[in-house]
Amino acid sequence: MNITFADISLAKPGALVVLVTEGATLQGVAADLDRKLGGALKRAVKAAGFTGKSGTYVDLVGPQGISASRVILAGLGKSAAVSSAGLEKVGGELVGRLGKTKDTALAIVLDGIAAPKLPAADAAARVAFGAKLRSYSFEKYKTKKKDDDAKKELKSLTVMTRAAASARKEYAVLSKVAEGMFLTRDLVNEPANILFPAEFAKRAKALTKLGVKVEVLGEAQMKKLGMGSLLGVGHGSQHQSQLVVMRWTGGKAGDKPVAFVGKGVCFDTGGISLKPAASMEDMKGDMGGAACVTGLMHTLAARKAKVNAIGVIGLVENMPDGKAQRPGDIVTSMSGQTIEVINTDAEGRLVLADALWYTQNRFKPKFMIDLATLTGAIMVALGKEYAGLFSNDDKLSKQLASAGEEEGEKVWRMPMGAAYDKMIDSRFADMKNVGGRDGGSITAAQFLQRFVNKVPWAHLDIAGTAMASPQTATNQSWGSGWGVRLLNRLVTDNYER
Ligand code: BES
Ligand code: MN
Ligand code: ZN
Repeated sequence: MNITFADISLAKPGALVVLVTEGATLQGVAADLDRKLGGALKRAVKAAGFTGKSGTYVDLVGPQGISASRVILAGLGKSAAVSSAGLEKVGGELVGRLGKTKDTALAIVLDGIAAPKLPAADAAARVAFGAKLRSYSFEKYKTKKKDDDAKKELKSLTVMTRAAASARKEYAVLSKVAEGMFLTRDLVNEPANILFPAEFAKRAKALTKLGVKVEVLGEAQMKKLGMGSLLGVGHGSQHQSQLVVMRWTGGKAGDKPVAFVGKGVCFDTGGISLKPAASMEDMKGDMGGAACVTGLMHTLAARKAKVNAIGVIGLVENMPDGKAQRPGDIVTSMSGQTIEVINTDAEGRLVLADALWYTQNRFKPKFMIDLATLTGAIMVALGKEYAGLFSNDDKLSKQLASAGEEEGEKVWRMPMGAAYDKMIDSRFADMKNVGGRDGGSITAAQFLQRFVNKVPWAHLDIAGTAMASPQTATNQSWGSGWGVRLLNRLVTDNYER
């Protein structure tokens, strides 16, 4: 879908939408339009009992007197309560509605939406952003088109505002956020026979064209570095494990980087501790953390963020096989610490242990944030509304929480502490990879903390939010793209020079 910004004009073919606030449904442009339509809009509003409440619409199909094929009034709710999120939602909903019609062009008019603290240009850009996010689809493996004649793909969106020039500028940044999110969604949606570690690495390598430096480490290099914890997970797989390092240097030379680390289990069968069959197909999304880090690096580079940022992703496949690691095996991590593998299905932490240690050791970052579809237990605790946040740093936690509120990607801080940490002490090694059923997401975080070497760190358990989360106005995709907006906002608000 092609998105442009233009001055207000009522002479557009296709679907013409006017956004209106509650109690002011027929003012300004809407009133002009009603006059052109000989009062038809007013009659439609009355007949539908439309008052401009958020999430309500009036459709006038095939109107006489203008070139538009349909006129829609879209309610935004009370003008004082209009927000960025509300405008994104209406943009998304309109794309959803129009997707069910024959129209291929959509024009949305924002006229005098006096939202507090939201300039007209921002408002227009947010509508476009919501529309863009909704327009995502992943249909590359569908060889047959639905034979629904009435349905036509929406090809263009024109957002009409008196602030078109500055809206275009605002949207230029947001469109890069959408690009990053779409990359993340694509990676999560891809099946594991296509997206195995080397193929994922290849896709990360494509960020080179945006000016990201991308290094790919294979098994031999990781072995040299002593990454026995990560490598153990991939032993049962036909696919080589990979570690990808992405570097974006948009900040001051010599300025410490911020670092993002992702769990990239391209498929998680559980290994010898095999998972049950039900919903195992969802484990193609067990690389959601790595996908988010890759999408974020795309966004930061594409918008030329003034920050030095590192993305590190550990890519493996967890398979049962004659060569697979066994419960009871003891592996030595790059940090030198030994791990007794009690359950081969607790593999994400084994991957992150070496990826985190490597990241802090090589880059001495300002902070590290890891993202991982780490535990089913986080969904028991938080459902799919919030990601779990675990951290050794109050400042970073607060920054993440407020970025999450702003972007609608919410995080909830969970407790950590010595009593939980004790639960992963092992009889035979320095630690074991599971701590029992109780507090499963917390003991997983305690495990990770043993590999961060006191660097300010946050862990986001995104098992509930990265995939199969509830569909919304701006996301109908299985892979949600969760985290790109959150971390882009964190960087924008706190870490750009
Ligand atoms: N990838 C899973 C966690 C997961 C489950 C993510 C469902 C998304 C949806 C992870 O590797 C795993 O298997 N965790 C185990 C840990 C347990 C063995 C301690 C779990 O959550 O059951
Ligand atoms: Mn697992
Ligand atoms: Zn997993």
